[in-house]
Amino acid sequence: MITAILIGAGARGMDAYAAYALQNPGRMRVVAVAEPRQDRRAAMARAHQIPPERCFDDWRPLLALGKIADCCLVCTQDRQHVAPAEAALALGYHVLCEKPMHPEAKACIQLVEAARASGKTLTICHVLRYSPFFAAIKRLLDEGRVGRVAAVQHIESVGFFHQAHSFVRGNWRNSHESSPMILQKSCHDMDILLWLLGKHCLRVSSYGSLLHFTPENAPAGSTERCYDGCPHTATCPYFCGRLYAEEAAGFRRIVCRDESPAALAEALKTGPYGRCVYRCDNDVVDHQVVNLLFEDGITASFTMCAFTARCTRLLNIMGTHGQIQADMEKNEIVLSDFVTGNQEKITVRTPRGGHSGSDTGLMEGFVRTVESDGAYQRSSAEDSLESHLMALAAEESRLTGKTVDLEEFRARHSASGAAPQAEGSRLAQQT
Ligand SMILES: NC(=O)c1ccc[n+]([C@@H]2O[C@H](COP(=O)([O-])OP(=O)(O)OC[C@H]3O[C@@H](n4cnc5c(N)ncnc54)[C@H](O)[C@@H]3O)[C@@H](O)[C@H]2O)c1
Repeated sequence: MITAILIGAGARGMDAYAAYALQNPGRMRVVAVAEPRQDRRAAMARAHQIPPERCFDDWRPLLALGKIADCCLVCTQDRQHVAPAEAALALGYHVLCEKPMHPEAKACIQLVEAARASGKTLTICHVLRYSPFFAAIKRLLDEGRVGRVAAVQHIESVGFFHQAHSFVRGNWRNSHESSPMILQKSCHDMDILLWLLGKHCLRVSSYGSLLHFTPENAPAGSTERCYDGCPHTATCPYFCGRLYAEEAAGFRRIVCRDESPAALAEALKTGPYGRCVYRCDNDVVDHQVVNLLFEDGITASFTMCAFTARCTRLLNIMGTHGQIQADMEKNEIVLSDFVTGNQEKITVRTPRGGHSGSDTGLMEGFVRTVESDGAYQRSSAEDSLESHLMALAAEESRLTGKTVDLEEFRARHSASGAAPQAEGSRLAQQT
């Protein structure tokens, strides 16, 4: 059994990763926590039986104890990952760090260099690599079932309700407080493209904007908050009362940990999730397209869009001998074989919740990494860095209108000015 310390006991730290320890007591135990919010700290202490001298309101005094466990889980917000992760690596912890590493390319590169220098592992929570759905697609590609891949269409259907919750009213609405949407939401997709194709990305170009969730689009007579007497609640898809009763019900715990109807109603009347979607301090895009050129002439087009009914990922992988069409939410993969004309429909058994089983898969992989002292790694820090650089280069392209060369982008943001070797990359590693 491995021991862990947790930095940031929020939705991810407490509810996804520390929860793994409770469900798998023989695999992992959380022995200390750093969390400024008293209620969350107390909940962690209670659930994991952490003594008061191992509970802190900040990560610094926790790490000042030195190395007291095998690994450190860094689950703070987007701009707060690098300092605790670097400090933990320097102390000799294996580190699991939430994505994105940081909204700036230079900081991401420095963190990965710090991991390399420490000799310990840095695992970024690109959970999709651990999903049964993507693992099944990866297997088909590695078996050559579509021949040589020529092109990929990948769509991230964010879901209108998810966009409103997380990227208009919620934690990731403003890139200056968190990070650009293409990094925050879609570094997962960049990572999955890299992993599936097993090729490096060479160039990207991108377009996109914040089209809809702006004050100009507020309907006449609408109010600052849904419950301020807004006359449009019956026709507005983003009315918080309906949203949290229906499509966004899964996010209720984030709106308010006390899920009683009275507490939820109060949180929507007074808290951030009851604000009019046209009157928030949001600036992240609601739709973006990225064109990507990979090695061996493979092209990919990626679309991220808020305006979809379902929250899913759709893939169309076009090979010389076959095609794969897949829908993540439906757990459905259809393989068409050009020689036989056969169509094979693969339905992947996928656990409910936790990113369709990916959160548990990630933790199982990470525990193996720690147990093997880094000998086993499904996803290296270098691989994660590459996907972050693809996303950040796409953002640069969106803002400048220019195509970005990945090697030049990396060199420009490296402290040394030179492009570090993609050494140690496990891009082509099998599942
Ligand atoms: N891998 C994924 O699929 C996935 C999904 C959602 C979110 N995320 C990422 O996970 C991270 C956390 O998201 P979340 O939803 O859990 O956010 P959250 O706000 O619920 O949790 C972050 C926690 O960090 C705590 N914190 C702040 N300052 C701290 C400090 N100095 N020391 C210790 N703790 C501190 C906060 O109080 C909070 O409880 C974000 O970067 C987010 O982008 C990843």
